[in-house]
Amino acid sequence: MNLSQRALNITPSATLAVSEKARKLKQEGKEVVVLSAGEPDFDTPEDVKQEATRALKEGLTKYTNTTGVDELKEAIQQKFKQDNQLDFSFSQIAACAGAKQAIYNSLAVLCGEGDEVVIPAPCWVSYIEQVKLVGAKPVFAYTNRENGYIPRVEDIERMLTPQTKVLIINSPNNPTGAVYPRELLLELAELVKKHRLWLITDEVYENLVFEGTRHYSIVTLDPEMYDYTVTINAVSKTYSMTGWRVGYAAGPEKVIKALSGLQSHTTGNPNAMAQMAAAYAIKNNRDYREWVKEFDYRRKYVYEMLNQMPGIECNEPRGAFYIFPEASGLIGKSNGNISLKNSLDLAEYLLEEALVAVVPGEAFAADNHLRISYVNSRENLKKGMEQMMEAVGKLK
Ligand SMILES: Cc1ncc(COP(=O)(O)O)c(C=O)c1O
Repeated sequence: MNLSQRALNITPSATLAVSEKARKLKQEGKEVVVLSAGEPDFDTPEDVKQEATRALKEGLTKYTNTTGVDELKEAIQQKFKQDNQLDFSFSQIAACAGAKQAIYNSLAVLCGEGDEVVIPAPCWVSYIEQVKLVGAKPVFAYTNRENGYIPRVEDIERMLTPQTKVLIINSPNNPTGAVYPRELLLELAELVKKHRLWLITDEVYENLVFEGTRHYSIVTLDPEMYDYTVTINAVSKTYSMTGWRVGYAAGPEKVIKALSGLQSHTTGNPNAMAQMAAAYAIKNNRDYREWVKEFDYRRKYVYEMLNQMPGIECNEPRGAFYIFPEASGLIGKSNGNISLKNSLDLAEYLLEEALVAVVPGEAFAADNHLRISYVNSRENLKKGMEQMMEAVGKLK
């Protein structure tokens, strides 16, 4: 018997493929430096864990309101007010099982069969699959290293058709580390209003910006955008709470109402104890500022090392915790046995030869790139970069 067409259309995750190979090598006793992870290497802060334990002991173990308990909505509301100068009522906020579900549910209520969703590329891999899962078609507006992976409004406008329903933006960006400047966001707001599109803005890396770079929420810059925009955020990356699964969407009441209806029939509320821990983290926890300093150190180190490697060219990332070197100079080269045809081959070569796990650019709709996460110890990063440098040097 066949599976559904929807299931058959899903592209297997390249990130998971790399992780699986790395796991096998580890089983064989090899020490792999894993630079493919999408989460901070720090533990969730202790007081956040205690808050979850308290909620558990006090019996918060039942269903909650589908889109989150009042404590969490209040924390999210305050966060938007303080950090982004945005006002949302409870009926304009929905807590979900991570930003991932918040984005999927938003897409599911904003677009469907026959619609197109424009995404500046390179982009986070799940946008592509989620758009396909809701029956719509992903359309890419490509950026490149020369322009800092910052999209040009005319390139996005050129991809619009009468079928375009949604534009997704992600700044700070995974995988490129680009942070969209204020002027671009203002221009994008004009574009969205002119063409009457929905906008999903994924701001999960909001707090991870470096060297005076500022993150702007598009709705803050242009309040008319309240009516067009779903703003996505989460506790995952900022508070090192990826496994807790709490993210949120904030937008027009009719969108949040539809999203809530969908969620009520699928997963229901996000985990009750995790909601309390997330509310606590948003209100009280500022540990991440120290983490950002440490990420900044690692970012600079990896950037310097990569730029010394022949065949690799690399922009300095301004946000998130990824660096996205272009390795066009290595594609087509060989170590005598294997000839590298694309970034997938290169990532496999680095895994086998340098014992370094990175994600091939293909996973993010980009050729000839690698995504390297610098959320690993300084020691491991040094080891990884040195081994990578040696392996790259062997390619002719
Ligand atoms: C750009 C982007 N959005 C959303 C997510 C998912 O976040 P969450 O773990 O809160 O579902 C990720 C995680 O890798 C991401 O990189």
